[in-house]
Amino acid sequence: MQRVSVSLAGGADDRSYDVVVGHGVIDQLDEMLSALLPTPQRVALITQPSIGIEVSTSLPLHRFEIGIGEQFKNLATVQELCEGFAEAGLTRGDVVVGVGGGMVTDVAGFAAASYHRGISVVHVPTTLLGMIDAAIGGKTGVNLPQGKNLVGAFWQPSGVLCDLDALATLPEREVRCGNGEMAKYHFLTGDDLAALDLEARVGRCVEIKAEVVASDERESGRRAILNYGHTLAHALEIASDHDIAHGEAVSIGLIFAARLAQRLGRIDAARLNEHLDVVGDLYGLKTEIPKVGSADELLELMFRDKKAIDGLTFVLDGPNGVEPVVGVDAAVVREVLDEALNG
Ligand code: GLY
Repeated sequence: MQRVSVSLAGGADDRSYDVVVGHGVIDQLDEMLSALLPTPQRVALITQPSIGIEVSTSLPLHRFEIGIGEQFKNLATVQELCEGFAEAGLTRGDVVVGVGGGMVTDVAGFAAASYHRGISVVHVPTTLLGMIDAAIGGKTGVNLPQGKNLVGAFWQPSGVLCDLDALATLPEREVRCGNGEMAKYHFLTGDDLAALDLEARVGRCVEIKAEVVASDERESGRRAILNYGHTLAHALEIASDHDIAHGEAVSIGLIFAARLAQRLGRIDAARLNEHLDVVGDLYGLKTEIPKVGSADELLELMFRDKKAIDGLTFVLDGPNGVEPVVGVDAAVVREVLDEALNG
């Protein structure tokens, strides 16, 4: 078992929390809940019908199921949940437990952040992507028709339990999605994560994310590197009406970002080939842009990305490593897109 601390010390309150990684760690839920301050009297469990994880706690438990699919990641679902919390008599001292993939923990976290202006939340991610990314770091939120995760809040969990037993039956597609984010960590650190056993691999990804979040909790700078590959990825998800899942889109976005970085003279052909080897061969993921939208549509969606404060913003590899780059020339992006779509 591994225990990684996400260290958010500083300011008036210490909001650090543990991420526990290992087989059977769901058994530690009661212990984690009883350590919360104030001590909760009730649990609101948020999950989905398909998630077969048994969650037991000695506290009275109110179960809420949310629909499967990105179309349920919206404000209507958050309203339904908060109304349910009120009907169940949840107070500011109670706790939400989110059990599921990234969509569940994003929505559960945002409902917890909003109800009574914020109550505690503990996440139990059940997918690889959830364990290594979505459930850690406090980004919560829902989609609008205009874009992904456009409404949300930074709301750190009070603890995260990554029970590796949940991965034993993870569908192949979900494994691919997790691997898309894992390939991202590969380029952030150079670590050969694929060489590690499952517990060490998940634990190391959690450590990498914890370190970045601790250095820039609210993404005023460095945390943006966690969005490597995400600018095109978000556009592909929307253009495909979410037929392309997030992690699948990230693998394609990583290669596009590397092609763009090469075109801008930030990296050489060898580094682009390293991206193709890691994403395509080591992790067996897609590298080519599928025909889900024209170059114009994808470009327009990338302009609407949350990171785009001043023109097009990409996270790009370069001489200083992976970093956010603001105001990337749209004509160059268009050229690289055209080549990738038609090449
Ligand atoms: N998934 C990117 C972040 O948490 O910042």
